[in-house]
Formats: sequence, structure tokens, C-alpha cells
Amino acid sequence: MKLLVLGATGGTGLELVRQATERGHSVTALVRSPERLGSFRDRIAIKQGDLLNRAELEPVIKGHDAVLSGFGPRVPVSKAEAHLLEQFAVGLTGAMTRAGVRRVVVESVAFLFRNSILPPAYLLGRLFFPRTVADASAMERIFGESQLDWTMVRPPGLTEKPFTGRYRVREGRLPLFGFKISRADVADYMIKTVENASSIRKVVGVCN
Ligand SMILES: NC(=O)c1ccc[n+]([C@@H]2O[C@H](COP(=O)([O-])OP(=O)(O)OC[C@H]3O[C@@H](n4cnc5c(N)ncnc54)[C@H](OP(=O)(O)O)[C@@H]3O)[C@@H](O)[C@H]2O)c1
Repeated sequence: MKLLVLGATGGTGLELVRQATERGHSVTALVRSPERLGSFRDRIAIKQGDLLNRAELEPVIKGHDAVLSGFGPRVPVSKAEAHLLEQFAVGLTGAMTRAGVRRVVVESVAFLFRNSILPPAYLLGRLFFPRTVADASAMERIFGESQLDWTMVRPPGLTEKPFTGRYRVREGRLPLFGFKISRADVADYMIKTVENASSIRKVVGVCN
């Protein structure tokens, strides 16, 4: 498949790029710092640009089968970036609609699971990361209101542990005791859900 990866220089993004190329997909990355993808230079198409700018995004999206996003504000999140995910969603949904590309898999946050008791994800999010909860909620609402074929992947705490392929997935909830997952396993799930055209217009909880 022809895949566009956003947030490709981040922890999850690098795993998306690595695993998607290993699985034989043709990958494009739109990034602000191309040098961070140096080791992939010969294997993927690297475009430099501002992914928050709809006019820059649209021509890059054209011709792809799907978009995968590991984009998110760098932590600690500054006040200036309090609405970054919302801004991203407005730009991306508009650009994808105009470019005629419908499929998108977006990494969101498990803090949005109001129905999770163990861990009490929503409560923890509201207490310790209220800005992230508000911004990610706005992002998901914008995708939800679009006509796109989206999947929202909500992981709990991300780790740098290696790929295991042993993770749990549930639609509409965070699996019980879902405290952590490696970025490598999140990327694996995101690529497979694109390949299988599964969980379209669904919110999904993933954890090890
Ligand atoms: N940290 C956690 O435990 C956790 C848990 C659940 C969900 N999440 C969510 O999962 C997603 C991925 O997290 P991660 O830790 O793997 O990502 P990350 O390493 O923080 O990488 C973020 C990516 O977004 C890009 N980015 C950030 N601000 C940007 C801007 N203003 N303009 C253009 N690009 C920008 C970064 O580009 P640069 O390389 O150029 O900075 C990078 O490629 C995020 O949405 C995060 O909120 C995180």
C-alpha cells in the first residue's frame, strides 16, 4: 500500500516507518526535520513541510491509500501547543477530504476511556494531564464528524520496549489492567488495521 506517515520522526512514527517498509509498503513521511529520518533515506520518500498547514498537506496526501499518524505534541506540552491535536485534526480532515483519501489511523490517548476502571484512565487524565485530555477529545470529535474512514487507537503509557506482537485490543474500551504498551506494538497494530481495513470508524484500546 502507499502509506503517508505523519509524526514520522517521533517514537511511534519511527516504528511505523520501519515496520511499514519491512512489510513491503511504499512509505512517504512529511516532517519538519528530514535529517531525523537519515537512516531511511534510501527506502522512503521524505518531504519537508508543515503538517499543520492544510495547503502543504493536501498535495502530499494525494495518491496515497492511507494516512498513519503518530503525531502529537512533544512533552512537556507547552501552553502554546495546548490545541495542537485539534489544529492537526482540522487540517488533516480538510486536506484528506479534498485530496480524496479516506483512510486514516490516528494514535490518540487511553485517557479518553471514561468506562475504564482499572486503570481509571479518564480520572488520571483529568487529574494529571487535563490539557491533553481536552485537546485529544477535540481531535477525536473532529475526526468523528468527518466523512473519513478513521480508526482512533488509544494506548495507555507508551514504552520503548521491543516489539512483542503480544498485545490486547478491544473496540470501545481499554483492556483490563492496560497500563502500558510499547510504541513498536502500537505501530504493529496500526499497520495491520490499515492492511485489513478493520475497525473503521471505531475507537480501539490497545495494551500489552
Ligand atoms: N507518551 C505516552 O506515554 C503516550 C501515551 C498515550 C498516547 N500518547 C500519544 O501518542 C502519540 C505519539 O506519541 P510518541 O511519544 O510516540 O510521539 P513523540 O515521540 O512525542 O513524537 C511526536 C511527533 O510529532 C511531531 N510533532 C510534534 N509537534 C509538531 C509540530 N508542531 N509540527 C510538526 N510536527 C510535530 C514530532 O516531530 P519532531 O520530531 O520534529 O519534533 C514527532 O514526529 C502522541 O499523540 C501522544 O500524545 C502518548
